[in-house]
Amino acid sequence: MAKKMSTVITSSILLFLLLLLAVDTHAHNVTRLLANHPSFSSFNHLLTKTHLADEINRRTTITICAVNNAAMSALTSKGYTISTLKNILSLHVLLDYFGAKKLHQIGGGSALAATLFQATRAAPGTTGFVNITMLRGGKVGFRPDGGDMSSFFVKSIEEVPYNISVIQISRILPSDAASAPTTAPAEMNISGIMSAHGCKVFAETLLSNPGASKTYQESVEGGMTVFCPGDDAMKAFLPKYKNLTAPKKEAFLNFLAVPTYYSMAMLKSNNGPMNTLATDGANKFELTVQNDGEKVTLTTRINSVQIVNTLIDEQPLAIYATDKVLLPKELFKALAVEAPAPAPAPEDGDVADSPKPAKGKAKGKKKKKKKKKKKKKKAAPSPDDSFGESDSPAEGPDGDADDENADEASAVRIVGGAQAGFVVGLFCLFASSWLI
Ligand SMILES: *[C@@H]1O[C@H](CO)[C@@H](O)[C@H](O)[C@H]1NC(C)=O
Ligand SMILES: *[C@@H]1O[C@H](CO)[C@@H](O)[C@H](O)[C@H]1NC(C)=O
Ligand SMILES: *[C@@H]1O[C@H](CO)[C@@H](O)[C@H](O)[C@H]1NC(C)=O
Ligand SMILES: *[C@@H]1O[C@H](CO)[C@@H](O)[C@H](O)[C@H]1NC(C)=O
Ligand SMILES: *[C@@H]1O[C@H](CO)[C@@H](O)[C@H](O)[C@H]1NC(C)=O
Repeated sequence: MAKKMSTVITSSILLFLLLLLAVDTHAHNVTRLLANHPSFSSFNHLLTKTHLADEINRRTTITICAVNNAAMSALTSKGYTISTLKNILSLHVLLDYFGAKKLHQIGGGSALAATLFQATRAAPGTTGFVNITMLRGGKVGFRPDGGDMSSFFVKSIEEVPYNISVIQISRILPSDAASAPTTAPAEMNISGIMSAHGCKVFAETLLSNPGASKTYQESVEGGMTVFCPGDDAMKAFLPKYKNLTAPKKEAFLNFLAVPTYYSMAMLKSNNGPMNTLATDGANKFELTVQNDGEKVTLTTRINSVQIVNTLIDEQPLAIYATDKVLLPKELFKALAVEAPAPAPAPEDGDVADSPKPAKGKAKGKKKKKKKKKKKKKKAAPSPDDSFGESDSPAEGPDGDADDENADEASAVRIVGGAQAGFVVGLFCLFASSWLI
């Protein structure tokens, strides 16, 4: 009897633990919360389209001031660009938790709430603050800095204390600052933005390369994210850059931009490899994004760099500064090997084996064959400049970086495995407790 009782208790506890694990531990999903309320579908759709939903899901202690579909038409009928819509809607995301109860108990009769608009660089001065005022008859009004008080609390929609509160307000908050036209993508002065915010050397390097400049400018419209090295890092790197052949210079510049718009929130939830503007069929030119808390790291097989600053985050363009120059393996594996490499033993008198940049595919292939031969012999570091680098593991000095990455990757795998093992283990315990 006692045993049966304890079995029941054990299995209940295990079942509870299993359920806990099964529940999505992600804090909240505003898209899903609002999906329960069809009369807010227009607002919800725009949160997704402007990528504000990602930003909202990443934060806690926030309040979303939503308006219903009828009130949204005042906004959607104006023909605003997506980045202006983003500014306007970000004014409706308060960086504090206001449930219905708190709204009606505001100490001193009014409160000033910072918004997501204020948190971006887009809001001039204090235009990103919203004044919440208690009015006669239990009314609560919302007035953006520099605007009128013409929008009022209607009702609470969803409350997850104290992570996220979604409330309905009667009208879109009127704000000249938020609805000001933003620069059209085609007119964005990429090098100007970089120069003004600590990436002047990279900007000048880009400007002096018409091919890459053109590729950058043409990519903005469809969405682009640039990872430009800060001035000190780029300055130190210039001698190496100048050593590259013309096509490699262009490939290197193109490698530091990705043909997709990534806000910081999106980068932080996007681990994994990304294509760059330098990627084409034969040449991968990938970089890998890795997140660790608030840190975003970019890696290749050669090195890793960290994002240290946001120069602009205005859909469709984001530019981030990095602490070092991210090196594509397609261009710098050879450089990393070159210095300490012993002179390769002449083979069949083929001089093409000297560590000079290989031009053309055929030569690259020939080299690769040779490389294999060498590997068998001695695994000597072999300089390989060819663009169409294969995925064979790197050898020689840069092998260290490779191993590090491999270690990290397997560590992640082990952690993931441990989690799965834990679940399976619990399940087995649970099952066996029934059998006892
Ligand atoms: C609130 O957010 C925290 C941190 O993301 C999360 O751990 C917690 O489960 C959330 N609470 C609720 C009730 O969703
Ligand atoms: C939030 O929910 C929507 C709709 O259910 C889904 O498409 C989206 O992937 C979810 N986002 C996250 C971060 O889970
Ligand atoms: C909010 O605005 C009202 C006037 O509309 C003003 O009296 C009050 O001081 C403001 N509150 C704060 C906290 O700035
Ligand atoms: C871009 O900005 C730079 C530096 O601010 C300036 O010299 C250049 O004229 C600008 N280009 C265009 C097309 O506006
Ligand atoms: C540039 O290339 C030359 C010849 O390959 C080499 O000797 C030199 O060290 C390189 N300079 C840099 C900074 O990489």
